[in-house]
Amino acid sequence: MPLNQFARDVKEGLSSSPKRLSSKYFYDARGDKLFQQIMHLDEYYLSRAELEIFQTHKEALLTIMDHGVPFRLVELGAGDGLKTKVLLKHFLQQGVDFSYAPVDISPDVLEHLQENLLNEMPTLKIEPLAGDYFKVLADLKFKNHTHSVAFFLGSNIGNFLSDTAIAFLSSIHDNLQKGDYLMIGFDLKKDPKRILNAYNDAAGVTRAFNMNLLDRINRELDANFDTSMFDHNPIYDPMTGQCRSYLISKQALEVHVGALNETFSFREWEPIFMEVSKKYDLEEIQELAGKTGFRLVQNFFDQEHLFCDSVWEVI
Ligand SMILES: C[S@@+](CC[C@H](N)C(=O)[O-])C[C@H]1O[C@@H](n2cnc3c(N)ncnc32)[C@H](O)[C@@H]1O
Repeated sequence: MPLNQFARDVKEGLSSSPKRLSSKYFYDARGDKLFQQIMHLDEYYLSRAELEIFQTHKEALLTIMDHGVPFRLVELGAGDGLKTKVLLKHFLQQGVDFSYAPVDISPDVLEHLQENLLNEMPTLKIEPLAGDYFKVLADLKFKNHTHSVAFFLGSNIGNFLSDTAIAFLSSIHDNLQKGDYLMIGFDLKKDPKRILNAYNDAAGVTRAFNMNLLDRINRELDANFDTSMFDHNPIYDPMTGQCRSYLISKQALEVHVGALNETFSFREWEPIFMEVSKKYDLEEIQELAGKTGFRLVQNFFDQEHLFCDSVWEVI
């Protein structure tokens, strides 16, 4: 039987040096639930800050985005839509003619999202699309719509290294039309201790979220990872703004992955690179907009200036 994409990526990642796994695979049904718990942790300021931005600035955001013609709001990596809901409700209350197209790699998360939104907003026009946002941009056929607004929230952009961020945003730009908008959530550089705590919570939920990817490989690819043999180790580098998470094998060990018919050896204290969460400053945000064909229209902040939702226009 041919290997699916997940199996191929795990094979490539565990055969690489240094070993790595893609954070997009965190989000199976259990990973979705763990991420929702993370969003409610005291240490995880990101979601609260972005929610505050939408609650405070929903009118200003609508004023920018609404051109008086029907538009489609596409959200890339929508998750549980908790924060977006604030804007969707406001847009409906204002009688705006729009539809909502959430895109997510996790079909489970999209199913729950649709059910939850329609319960609360029965008149919402919603067209969910399950898929990898790198692959489905063309399927979204932006050019068939008079006006589009794309959302990329929750610091999803932070999960890309610089070249990938530029390539991905350029590809969004090429799919959109002149005058369309893109709103991106950026986590800002701040006290390194506060950043590190957000990825190393006291209750160990982020640890469990990372370990779940090893369990997912056990479940879906018939592997025998013993998660108690791995340590969760996030680090933050204030120079690059990168918070990187690793799982480190505490001793030399071998892991067999049945679906790949392959055994992978780990040296004592060998890391697997799991995720990057890049933090930005305002100069970097401005520069990224310029490099990818957008004009920065306005930055919106929470009171503490922890987070920034930056609205860009296609020029
Ligand atoms: C960090 S969560 C953020 C969710 C939401 N944007 C928020 O701000 O609360 C990332 C979401 O993006 C989805 N995701 C991650 N990588 C993806 C990819 N390559 N394609 C599509 N969705 C992806 C995950 O399933 C998850 O729901």
